Amino acid sequence: MKTIDELLADGVAGKRVFVRADLNVPLENGTATAKIADDGRIRAVLPTVKALAEAGARVVVASHLGRPKGAPDPAFTLAPAAARLGELLGADVAFATDTVGDSATATVAGLADGQVAVVENLRFNAGETSKDDAERAAFADRLAALADVYVGDGFGAVHRRHASVFDLPTRLPHYAGHLIATEVGVLKKLTEDVKRPYVVALGGSKVSDKLAVIDQLLGKADRILIGGGMAFTFLKAKGYEIGGSLVQEDQLAAVTEYLERAEKTGVELVLPVDAVVAPAFPDLKSKAPAHPTDVAADAIPADQMGLDIGPETHKLYASKITDAATVFWNGPMGVFEHPDFAEGTKAVAQALLDSEAFTVVGGGDSAAAVRILGFDENAFGHISTGGGASLEYLEGKTLPGLAALKD
Ligand code: 3PG
Repeated sequence: MKTIDELLADGVAGKRVFVRADLNVPLENGTATAKIADDGRIRAVLPTVKALAEAGARVVVASHLGRPKGAPDPAFTLAPAAARLGELLGADVAFATDTVGDSATATVAGLADGQVAVVENLRFNAGETSKDDAERAAFADRLAALADVYVGDGFGAVHRRHASVFDLPTRLPHYAGHLIATEVGVLKKLTEDVKRPYVVALGGSKVSDKLAVIDQLLGKADRILIGGGMAFTFLKAKGYEIGGSLVQEDQLAAVTEYLERAEKTGVELVLPVDAVVAPAFPDLKSKAPAHPTDVAADAIPADQMGLDIGPETHKLYASKITDAATVFWNGPMGVFEHPDFAEGTKAVAQALLDSEAFTVVGGGDSAAAVRILGFDENAFGHISTGGGASLEYLEGKTLPGLAALKD
């Protein structure tokens, strides 16, 4: 995989460089003037965009945002992300109101050496995410017409076989940007020669999203700590009463098999011993008090639902993290967006900070949680910009966006 350093060494002045970034940031309300709740992904691509601009390239930044349905949708415009990129760069950033149409063509043609443009959301075009190879190829051809060189730096999207991620690099000289090079370097530390004890904390709502990674990790990690909504499927599999908590009935058999396999192989698969429960899912907008109580994990009342790990579990998980040499954490431990259910996620974040381990926070949600909850992101070993991407890497899958960057 050639990196941007080689491109810069060869010289890029005057060249149109297409940077496939991941500017898929959480917006507080989806409009052209929406407030960005967490700009971590925009800051993460800055080193690449800056280096190219300073070297005199004409930089064309492209990204998806959200999951629009292959046609323009103002709720998913990249305009706020483009404006933020301009603020962070301290320079004007041109914005094209389409991706490959007249506006994009004119905007790119109007760039002077060292200037930066952002084109509108790639997913406003059906060809971007199409399963049909020819449709994707046709869109990739139009994207290729905007540039002379391709730099892949949207780590959060490298697990997607999308036109801008997978098809476009084959049409242009291609390089990995600084972010992708850093992310892959960190993930290698978690897969090759990992320092032990290796502890993994997994949260998030759906166990189905994490099955494949748990399957892989059962042969690699020393301890796996389970939190978030998915913990309740594990608790139910153990025969506990979980009241109205989230459960994926169709995953109970898989989860039971994991519990058995962990027992046989000596991997510690650790479940919450208590939970913060409430009568209903909290209102995340008003943040109105949700009347939480702490209960034992095997005694959740029928009229309550579990929304966070409880205080005894904070202590238990911290004790499992404290002597680790490597920790990977993906997924919030509870509904951290509401203050009544943020303590579990805070406790795990703090345990990572208190340990001397090499700590990796993987993923959009947990990375945003760390920043939104006020932690100093520089205190962690690495905060990944890719949730799904880092999980699929750990699953051992071939990631289309990394495969396409190979020489
Ligand atoms: C993410 O948020 O994980 C990436 O931006 C990928 O987004 P997607 O899951 O909509 O493809």
